[in-house]
Amino acid sequence: MSYLVLARKLRPPRFKDLVGQEHISKTLINAIRTDRVAHAFLFTGPRGTGKTSCARILTKALNCHAPVEHEPCNVCENCLEINQGIATDIIEIDAASNRGIEHIRELRENVKFSPAKCRFKTYIIDEVHMLTTESFNALLKTLEEPPSHVKFILATTDHHKIPTTVISRCQRYDFSNISIPEMVTYLQSVVEKEGISVSDSALKLISKSATGGMRDALTTLDMLISFGGDLVDDEKVITVLGLNDARELDGLLEAIIEKDVAQVISLFQNLVAKGRSIARIVIDLMGVVKDLSLVKSVPEDDLNWHDFLPDQLDLYKRLSAKVGIGTLQQYFQIILDIEGQIKRSTQAKICVEMGLMRMCSVESLVGVAEIITALRSAGKKKIPAIN
Ligand SMILES: Nc1ncnc2c1ncn2[C@@H]1O[C@H](COP(=O)(O)OP(=O)(O)OP(=O)(O)O)[C@@H](O)[C@H]1O
Ligand SMILES: [Mg+2]
Ligand SMILES: [Zn+2]
Repeated sequence: MSYLVLARKLRPPRFKDLVGQEHISKTLINAIRTDRVAHAFLFTGPRGTGKTSCARILTKALNCHAPVEHEPCNVCENCLEINQGIATDIIEIDAASNRGIEHIRELRENVKFSPAKCRFKTYIIDEVHMLTTESFNALLKTLEEPPSHVKFILATTDHHKIPTTVISRCQRYDFSNISIPEMVTYLQSVVEKEGISVSDSALKLISKSATGGMRDALTTLDMLISFGGDLVDDEKVITVLGLNDARELDGLLEAIIEKDVAQVISLFQNLVAKGRSIARIVIDLMGVVKDLSLVKSVPEDDLNWHDFLPDQLDLYKRLSAKVGIGTLQQYFQIILDIEGQIKRSTQAKICVEMGLMRMCSVESLVGVAEIITALRSAGKKKIPAIN
């Protein structure tokens, strides 16, 4: 049998298998139970969060011969055909590849014919925001008053690009980003079923880098299995996700804080030699300075949401003791200057090297409060309290 990537093999078959979208599953099941199913739906939300999967589940649930508690059975003829994408009454239109008005014209012509086998003829229009204005206009009339045997499910990552006239004719469902704990729990069950050993911290790294989309997480897992076989550890995840670059930038920042000019220049030149674009290095360095400022300013408990590597937070805590927030602000200004200069100059590399040396020579700025404390403890002068 040909190999199927995890994200295709594991398409959720029932509402209860959709992770992190319980608010949607519950509402849809209720609508089916009370026989109050709308004729047009808009599924919107970030990519890889279950919109297309949910459209298929809803379609199956509405046409299933033997639903179980309003969930599709996944074994009857209709369910099987919908799962395989061969049900003639279910028309999936990918608006991204069929932008033309032709497709919608065809839809308008055919919508009046009754379904052959299913209860409802269902049009699933994916990436609906890609339709042209003419197509939207052509769709409007049908969407407003479709025949009773027709359902529409529109799916999009970008509802801002859909005319309000279309949105207002649909029942709208907002898909959420899947949270890291929910994703980790799901991935744990996936690796168990696949018989692969992946540490929990590696699964956490994968989930963080997927930023809410389950498809991205499964795609990373696929890559890791090809790369690392049945045993996947943190190091492999870090390599596959390219997180080593983040470590090198941390090293660069550490050397700047240590004012070790030779090390700073050598690390920078290494990054360039590895083919990293100079502009990218500067932008990433800006991110690292921002992250360190965050660690310095925010209590540790509030940092959990942030995307730190296993030993990165420890390093940042250690570095934050060595550098003042004023200095970090100066670093940031210098990086902003470098960013501007490299756009104008033909000598981008030299501009960055000069900028990095400037960062190494930043004298720490001491805040007024710190000066007052120092003076008080030195007992040189009686200084009144500041209210
Ligand atoms: N909520 C979820 N629960 C479990 N698996 C999910 C979920 N969302 C996505 N997946 C996984 O990702 C794959 C792709 O999901 P799906 O096509 O439904 O996403 P989508 O929201 O339509 O994405 P896109 O916006 O890119 O079209 C599914 O086959 C499944 O393996
Ligand atoms: Mg989709
Ligand atoms: Zn069925």
